Parts: sequence; C-alpha cells; structure tokens
Amino acid sequence: MPEDANGTLRLPGRLHFGFGVRAQLAALVGGRRVLAVVDPFLKGTRFYDETVGNLGNVRVFDGVTPELPADSLDVALVGDFEPEVVVGIGGGSALDAAKLIALLFAHGGPLSRYYGENQVPGPCVPVIALPTTAGTGSEVTPVAVVADPAREVKVGISSPFLVPAAALVDPELTLGSPRSVTAFSGIDALVHAVESYTARAFDPDWTATPPVFTGRNALTEPIALQAARQITRWLPVAVAQPGDRLARHEVAQGALLAGIAFGSTGTHLCHALQYPIGALTKTPHGLGTGLLLPYAIRALTRDRTVAARLATLFDGDPVDRVTEVNRAIGVPSTLAEIGVGAEQLPRIAELALASRRLIAIAPIEPSHGLLLDILEHAHAGDPG
Ligand SMILES: NC(=O)c1ccc[n+]([C@@H]2O[C@H](COP(=O)([O-])OP(=O)(O)OC[C@H]3O[C@@H](n4cnc5c(N)ncnc54)[C@H](O)[C@@H]3O)[C@@H](O)[C@H]2O)c1
Ligand SMILES: [Fe+2]
Repeated sequence: MPEDANGTLRLPGRLHFGFGVRAQLAALVGGRRVLAVVDPFLKGTRFYDETVGNLGNVRVFDGVTPELPADSLDVALVGDFEPEVVVGIGGGSALDAAKLIALLFAHGGPLSRYYGENQVPGPCVPVIALPTTAGTGSEVTPVAVVADPAREVKVGISSPFLVPAAALVDPELTLGSPRSVTAFSGIDALVHAVESYTARAFDPDWTATPPVFTGRNALTEPIALQAARQITRWLPVAVAQPGDRLARHEVAQGALLAGIAFGSTGTHLCHALQYPIGALTKTPHGLGTGLLLPYAIRALTRDRTVAARLATLFDGDPVDRVTEVNRAIGVPSTLAEIGVGAEQLPRIAELALASRRLIAIAPIEPSHGLLLDILEHAHAGDPG
C-alpha cells in the first residue's frame, strides 16, 4: 500500500456549520458552569447577547491580548471559579486562549511545560469554540500558538487533548469583520489547505503514540482539495463585498474544511517561515503565510510529483492563481514591503529550520539553502 493509504482525523465530538448554528450554544452547555473567553471586539455587539447572554452560570474573560503572550492567560484562573466547560468566541487568538485556559485549569501551569508535541498529560476542561474569523480552523485543531517573551518566535502546543469538544461555525459571526481581517485570516486558510494537500505522507508506527501531525493521508486529502478550491474562488468576493452572505458562507466552510485537514496532517514551509517573520515585523500571521505562498509553491513545483498534486488544486498555473488572489485581497507581494531587510534572510531561514515539527511535514527536503531561496525570491517579488 502507498504511504498515504492510512488515515487520521481528529475532530470535535459535535460540529455544526451554517447560518444560525450559534443558537445551539446554550443547549450544548447544558446548564454547566461556564468560563466564556470572549474576543474584545464582541463587547456591546448583538452577537455577545445572542451567545454569552443566553448562558446562566457564566464568568467572562475578555482580556485576550494580541499575539497571546503566554503569561497573559493566568488572570483567567484567578479566584475560586472552577468551570465545567470553557466557551471560546472570537478570532483564532481568542480560541487559542480558550484552549490554553482549559489546559491550565485541568493540569496547571506554566504553559512552557507543554510546548511542542504530545506533552499534555490528559483531557482538559471541555471547550466549545465559536470562530468569528474564517481562517485559523482553531475550533477543530489540536494546536494553540502563544508568544513567549523568552523566545524569539511564537511557539505551539500540540496535543489531541486540545481539540475542542464541540464547535459551532456560524458564518454570520464573520459578517462584520474588517477587510484586512477577512483577507489575512482567509488567505491563511488557503495556505492550510495547500500545505495539508502537499504534506509529506508518513507511514506511522501504530503500535506507538502517533505524532500529532501525521502527514498527508487518505482521509484529509479530499477535504483539503475542496477547501482550496472553495477559498480560491470565494475569498476575493468576500473581501470585495463583505456583506455577501454566500461568499461568507463559502469562505467559512472552506476555512473549516482546511482546519479539519491540516489539524491532522500539519502545515509546513509557509508556516515555519512565517513565525520568525511575524516576530520581526509584527505583521499578522495570515499576511505572512499568504505573502509566502506563491514563492513556496514555486519551490515545491520543482519536484514533479508535488507539481502534479498542485496542478489538481488550481485552475491554471498555481503560482499565478495564488498571486492573483493575493493581489485581489491586498496581501503585500514582497518581504521588502513589510520591512524585512535582505541581510535578515539567513537568520530567518535558520529560525524556520529550527521549527523541526513543521519542517518535517514538507514534501521536499527543506535545507537552509531551499528556505533562503524562497525568502530571496519573496524579498525581491520574483516568483520565478
Ligand atoms: N490553533 C490553530 O490551529 C491556529 C492556526 C492558525 C493560526 N493560529 C493563530 O491564530 C491567530 C490569528 O487568528 P485570526 O486570524 O483569527 O485573528 P485574531 O484572532 O488575531 O483577530 C484579529 C483581529 O480581528 C478582530 N476580530 C475577530 N473577529 C472579528 C469580527 N468578526 N469582526 C470584527 N473584528 C474581529 C480581533 O478582535 C482582532 O483584533 C494567530 O495568533 C495565529 O498564531 C492558530
Ligand atoms: Fe496558519
């Protein structure tokens, strides 16, 4: 059998998608004591009343800080409130915060104990996730990302125990999101789909603990394919016409499917390279992964097998298609534009190479030279 004949999917026990599904929140909570981790933008909106407002025994934490510094979450644990369930409502940062707070309640801190893969010792407080951006897929994935002041780049905590217990993905919650948030979170979802679809295939040892990210596999492949096609077609529409309900629906579904796919396979080149670039330039995660995507695709297509896979994802030339989408939604086209100096490229490649978990998922040998080549083309704006 080929290496990608096996399959892994890790999913919430309950997953509802569509306009209006947020109304299921109170039923899912079922009267349990709730800590609600709420994105600050929600305060005073009707969505707040329609979700958190309907819960009985609830305490609210709305202090999610941008970039999610690791020590910013401890305040959510102050006092003697012991939640039976944690509800996360917001963008990827708020959902990651909810997942990590649920981890801290169950197993204690500091978070640095859990950095890396499979370090979470057991089940966490169950999380119900409601995303308000169409992008990260955090509502279904086994990973959360934090900034640790002691480290140069953001760090991931990955464990099957971080997969939320339930997710309610309601495109209505994304309708008011600003143009740049729609664009950057949406393009990140396209990167998730492409990296999942092109991930290396592994043949895990099923008698041992499998890695959290198991590479491209039989179950994720059709999901990633559908996600990439849907996002490529509809993201430019959602950015140009933010009130277009069909476009919001399609992009939200695409981002969810991409999350389901990459949550099992993992992501690779663009993600490994974005972490140091994000730390250096303080630019959003999706801006960086999206900017890099055409250049990473160009490097990947040097391998004929990977090129053939990429050709099935896009109508026309993959580099051209992704470049068109980026241009249409306002993703900068060069690293120079976001303030990266040419002299910084070798160090960025070094830091990316240190993300071994991500790099191992790449379908081609990710040497320092290859990463530097991608960065140099992305700096000059030459997809080659
Ligand atoms: N856990 C995962 O699987 C995973 C995957 C990819 C990225 N991430 C992480 O997710 C974060 C990025 O998440 P994101 O792209 O969703 O952005 P975000 O959560 O950082 O939100 C960006 C901004 O948009 C606001 N916002 C969110 N939804 C809105 C809405 N509907 N209307 C108006 N404003 C809204 C937020 O308040 C914030 O100011 C990064 O920290 C990244 O590392 C996690
Ligand atoms: Fe991402």
